[in-house]
Amino acid sequence: MGVRNLEKGQKALDEVNARKPQGTLSLLALDVSNDDSIHAAAKKLEADYGRLDVLINNAGNQVQPRFPTREQLRESFETNVYGPVIVTQTLLPLITASHGKKIINVSSELGSITGGSNPSHHAYRNPFTAYRMSKAALNMLSATTYAHLKDQGVKVWSFCPGFVVTNLADQRDRRAAMGAESSETSAQAILDIVEGKRDAEAGTFIGRYGRQIPW
Ligand SMILES: NC(=O)c1ccc[n+]([C@@H]2O[C@H](COP(=O)([O-])OP(=O)(O)OC[C@H]3O[C@@H](n4cnc5c(N)ncnc54)[C@H](OP(=O)(O)O)[C@@H]3O)[C@@H](O)[C@H]2O)c1
Repeated sequence: MGVRNLEKGQKALDEVNARKPQGTLSLLALDVSNDDSIHAAAKKLEADYGRLDVLINNAGNQVQPRFPTREQLRESFETNVYGPVIVTQTLLPLITASHGKKIINVSSELGSITGGSNPSHHAYRNPFTAYRMSKAALNMLSATTYAHLKDQGVKVWSFCPGFVVTNLADQRDRRAAMGAESSETSAQAILDIVEGKRDAEAGTFIGRYGRQIPW
């Protein structure tokens, strides 16, 4: 579990372990907006495990203004795009050395260009310009990574977790009030990918409940 804040990470780890999960879970210091941190994390993974079966690029932020400043655009792309690009590149030797060879990029349907250009799509006029652009760029990372690496057995997905209750944009209460579902539904869908249930959909954009999402 890569975390940029070890104190918050330890709290999350304790909460998960209190539920007595199968297997083991440990923390890895990782700030995806910092190359030194990414390289240090890769070194530690290599030393501790020598391979990485599944990489889940989950870290993200949601910059919401309709007219973002240059600074807000940078903030958005640093975490949602540049982070996954550099993390994936850096960890590639560990991924290709693994049995699983899976990369899951946690995206958003708000990044679907098909949805953003279809007047009847529910998110057609969603105003989160920087967030939507960043997730569209992340989707291109998924498509191109798969195109380049599928012959080496690497599987890549863009995955939308759906509208769920989390701390995204500090709107936990608002999300719950708006009817967002539990994030456990997203976690279950990610587990399905990890366990191979969505292998046939590698190289595509998918969601919970078996959904296919148009790019
Ligand atoms: N919730 C939804 O409805 C929804 C819908 C579509 C897509 N998504 C996507 O789902 C993913 C997870 O978001 P979430 O909803 O679970 O929101 P969240 O509760 O805000 O979680 C985002 C996590 O990313 C971490 N993070 C942010 N910047 C980072 C960095 N530079 N390095 C390392 N970690 C960093 C945060 O760490 P800290 O705890 O240290 O802040 C936080 O734990 C995101 O990619 C988001 O875009 C969510």
